[in-house]
Amino acid sequence: MKNKMFDLTNKIALVTGGADGIGLAISKKLSEQGAVVHILDINQEKGEASTIEIVADGGNCHFWTCDVSDQKQVLSIVNKIYDQNGSIDILINNAGIAHIGTAEDTKEHDFDQIMKINVKGVYNCVFACIPYMKKQKKGCIVNMASAATVVGLPNRFAYSASKGAITTMTYSIARDFVQDNIRCNCLSPGRVHTPFVDGYLAKYYPGQESEMFEKLSNTQPIGRMGKPLEIANLVLYLCSDEASFMTGSNYPIDGGFVTLNT
Ligand SMILES: NC(=O)c1ccc[n+]([C@@H]2O[C@H](COP(=O)([O-])OP(=O)(O)OC[C@H]3O[C@@H](n4cnc5c(N)ncnc54)[C@H](O)[C@@H]3O)[C@@H](O)[C@H]2O)c1
Repeated sequence: MKNKMFDLTNKIALVTGGADGIGLAISKKLSEQGAVVHILDINQEKGEASTIEIVADGGNCHFWTCDVSDQKQVLSIVNKIYDQNGSIDILINNAGIAHIGTAEDTKEHDFDQIMKINVKGVYNCVFACIPYMKKQKKGCIVNMASAATVVGLPNRFAYSASKGAITTMTYSIARDFVQDNIRCNCLSPGRVHTPFVDGYLAKYYPGQESEMFEKLSNTQPIGRMGKPLEIANLVLYLCSDEASFMTGSNYPIDGGFVTLNT
């Protein structure tokens, strides 16, 4: 008999930052399981190319150019998606940017930018989707936090602050809407090899990229960085009916980074 676990047939799923990296792996995974995936991403070129790739593989995927930090844009897109589909079942708040710096050398503009995208972006998307989830008396939200929320990583002042906010926003959303049958969880990945990592190595360690890549890989006791698909598999589980008893939690997925590094 066919295994029907993790079936998302016809579920309407929004994936922010789904054009690349972890978000792209999530978009592919959810569409493989039958979801109708809507990618919301600021990178139009990459977003359209990724959407074409998913559709060519048999997925039902749509792309929306969207800056998650702009509430007007988010509301307008989410309203259109609801009007066209009649439900919003899954919201994956994955869009995020990196920043390297201590409290001493983080510039005001960079701090504001991190908060605008990583924190306000999540608020904007839940603000837009929750009324529909309440109306339909069901919904699932998965937020992308980071291992940086539980350990003091060097030089990650603003980034860690933004991801700490994600975990507490997750608990708050889960608490406030538990009676509406809306589940909300977050993930705390260790380092995952994506353009995000390549981008900050190029920006902050020019000329030392491969040395730093090796160093970062070895900080995971498992001896490597994670793969986007490994993160997508946990996201799929959390938004499937198999995870129906799971809400208000932060799930580490980090190759032993937090608990095995002594
Ligand atoms: N890669 C890692 O090691 C790692 C570890 C822990 C947590 N995370 C988190 O996982 C998430 C995804 O990371 P990734 O490594 O796949 O990053 P990535 O840079 O490879 O992809 C991020 C995507 O978000 C999009 N994006 C950026 N700003 C946006 C905005 N304002 N509006 C809409 N879309 C926007 C980008 O265009 C891109 O497609 C981020 O929230 C990141 O903080 C990553």
